[in-house]
Amino acid sequence: VSVDTLLDARWRMFFDWASISPLSNPAQVARRSHLERADRAVDPPLFLRSETARLDRLRESLRRFLTPPGDHAIVLGRSAAELLSLLAAGLPTTADRRVVLLVEPNHPVAALAWAGASRTRPIRVHTVAHDGRHLADLDALAAALDRRCLAVCVTHVTHLHGGVQPIRRITDLAHAAGALCIVDGAQATGRIPVDVAALGCDVYIGAGRKAMLAPIGTAFLSGAAEVLSMVEPSVWSTRSATLIGPDHAASVVAARPGELPARLEGNLPDLAALNALAGSTDALLDIGVDWVQAQVRRLLPYLLDGMKRNGLELQSTAGTGEVANAGIVTFAAPPTASGLDLQARCGAAGFVVAADLDTVRVSLHARNDETAIDALCREMR
Ligand SMILES: Cc1ncc(COP(=O)(O)O)c(C=O)c1O
Repeated sequence: VSVDTLLDARWRMFFDWASISPLSNPAQVARRSHLERADRAVDPPLFLRSETARLDRLRESLRRFLTPPGDHAIVLGRSAAELLSLLAAGLPTTADRRVVLLVEPNHPVAALAWAGASRTRPIRVHTVAHDGRHLADLDALAAALDRRCLAVCVTHVTHLHGGVQPIRRITDLAHAAGALCIVDGAQATGRIPVDVAALGCDVYIGAGRKAMLAPIGTAFLSGAAEVLSMVEPSVWSTRSATLIGPDHAASVVAARPGELPARLEGNLPDLAALNALAGSTDALLDIGVDWVQAQVRRLLPYLLDGMKRNGLELQSTAGTGEVANAGIVTFAAPPTASGLDLQARCGAAGFVVAADLDTVRVSLHARNDETAIDALCREMR
C-alpha cells in the first residue's frame, strides 16, 4: 500500500472540516471558564499545576466513559490521526511480526498512519477488503491473519456509511493469531455506547470533535499499559523523556521509563480544548450515550424519509437492512449544487454536513432534532 494509491483525487481535495459538530453547551461553558482562569492567573507554575490536575480529572471521566479494563491507561492527544500515527511510528516490530492488517472500510488517516510509518520502518501494510456491505469480512480477515501479523487496525463506526463493526469478534480473531487489535473509534465515541473492556481490544482511540461535540484539537486513547509502555514517543520533550547522562548526546536520552501517560504526551496540550472535552464528557456521562443512541435511532428514519421525499438517492447500505447504522448516511448530492455551496447552505440552516463533488454525508448526534432535519431537507431539495 502506498500513500499515493490510498489517496484518490477526491480525498486530496476534500479537507475534512466538514464533520465538525457544534460544541455542546457544557463544552462551551468549560472552555470559557478555563480561559477566564487563564486570564486571571498571575502565577504560571501554579496555574499549570491546577490545570494539569484537571487533565487528570478528564482522564478519570474518560475512564468512566470508556469503561476499559483496569490495566488500561488513558492518553490525551489532538486528533485520531495523531494517536494512530503515534502507534504506527512507535509500536515495536519483531523480525517475525511486522504485518499490519487494515480492515476496510477505514478512514484514510488510519491507512496514512501505517503506510506513512512503513516508509521508514519495517512495517508491511495489507488491506482486508470489506464484505460488499461496508462491513468487515471476517472470513477474509481470518484468512489473512497469521504469525507475521503485528496488529489489526479497524474502525468501530465507519465514517461514510455508519456501519458498526463487530469489534469483539475482530479482537478475538486478532488475539487468536497473537496480534494486537487497535480500534479507531473517532465516529463512535459519543454516538454509540463504547465499553472497551467488553470489546476486548488493546487500544481504543476516540475523538472529541465529532459526536462528543467537543472542539478540534481533542482526542484520546485507552490502551493496555503493557502495550503502551513499549511504544516509543513521537514527540520528545521534557514531558515524555529525560536526559540521563552528563552530556546531551543522543545515547543518553531515555523515554520516561514506564511512565504513562507522560511518555506518549510529549506535546503541550491544548488546555482550552481539553477543558471543553471534559465538559462534554461529563455531560455525556450524565445523560448517557444510551440516550444519544436512542435519539439518533429515532431521527435516522425521519432523515431517510425526508431525503427520499427530496428524491435523493441513499448511497450507504448499512442501516437499510439488517446491518446496524450508528447514524451516519451518505446521499448522492442534489444535481444542481456544488459540494461547498451545499455545505455552506446546510451549515447556515444549522446542520453541518460533509459534502464533496457528488455526495453529501450527514452524521447525526446528540444535538440534532426533527426541526434541524426539516431545515436540512429544505436546503437539499
Ligand atoms: C472514522 C474516522 N477516523 C479518523 C478520523 C480522523 O480524525 P481526526 O481528524 O481526529 O484525525 C475521522 C474523521 O473524519 C473518522 O471519521
